[in-house]
Amino acid sequence: MTDFIHVYNSKGGVGKSSLTWVLGTTLAKHLESANSDEKVLIIDLDIQRNISTCLVKNPEKIEFSLSDIFINNTPPEKAVVNVSANLDLLPSEGDLDAVTNYLSTITMGREFQFKERLGDFLKEHYRIVVIDYPPNINLLTLNSLIVSEEQCHVVVPVELSFLSLSGAVQVDEQLEKIRKYNLNKNIHIDFVCIVKDNISRSNHAKISQEEIQQRFNGKILENTLKQAIDIPNAMVSRSRNLWEYDSETKAGTFVNALVVELWDKMSK
Ligand SMILES: Nc1ncnc2c1ncn2[C@@H]1O[C@H](COP(=O)(O)OP(=O)(O)OP(=O)(O)O)[C@@H](O)[C@H]1O
Ligand SMILES: [Mg+2]
Repeated sequence: MTDFIHVYNSKGGVGKSSLTWVLGTTLAKHLESANSDEKVLIIDLDIQRNISTCLVKNPEKIEFSLSDIFINNTPPEKAVVNVSANLDLLPSEGDLDAVTNYLSTITMGREFQFKERLGDFLKEHYRIVVIDYPPNINLLTLNSLIVSEEQCHVVVPVELSFLSLSGAVQVDEQLEKIRKYNLNKNIHIDFVCIVKDNISRSNHAKISQEEIQQRFNGKILENTLKQAIDIPNAMVSRSRNLWEYDSETKAGTFVNALVVELWDKMSK
């Protein structure tokens, strides 16, 4: 069984890639600590390829990427890069627009190309797939959102700000259309994760929190991803997880609590 975690908000800069990195690398660390041979795969669907840059020590040595699977029929196993014992990455190059263009030339089943080319591979090799999205929906991201109807979890990172909330509302509307057209009848926002959370919340943050509570009641994770410099620092230093960056990291406690809560709720 493979759990798919889609990290998506249509607002830019909200913290999608950081949350994807935190979830993917920490879940892999938990599997490693349990001596499991199961694996996590992080898929980079963003043209900015932030996740790919942060997880690969020598990005210039990446031979194949996600776009090769679509454009050159490269088998997915050739495009996947091993990061650590329990973590792989499916990197992207700056040519994801070419994939979107290619998909638009397909007459029949253009929405299902991701599922066709990657669905069985992902289910066979990975226990968890975490996908980082760009802020806009396009044919490629739509393909990815419908890769699996089973064990499909959409996690929306929101900052305590009005614009971030409206991005989450847009996601809700987009997913409703995906259900309406029967592209994935099980897709909806499963979890809202408050990110870049600050101890000293401004008035704007407090008002936004109330609005988020009203709109997404019951879906908001109790644990938040707090603002912590260790997260971007660990990412830019190309550490494989927070603890490789700093074994005593203060962010470790809240990150573990967040990941355990998400995993428990996903498993119900
Ligand atoms: N918990 C956090 N603590 C500290 N900094 C954070 C945290 N989350 C995100 N950031 C910072 O906020 C900025 C935006 O984060 P990120 O790149 O993850 O957003 P994004 O939603 O992926 O952006 P885009 O829409 O451009 O893909 C980055 O500089 C990142 O380092
Ligand atoms: Mg990003």
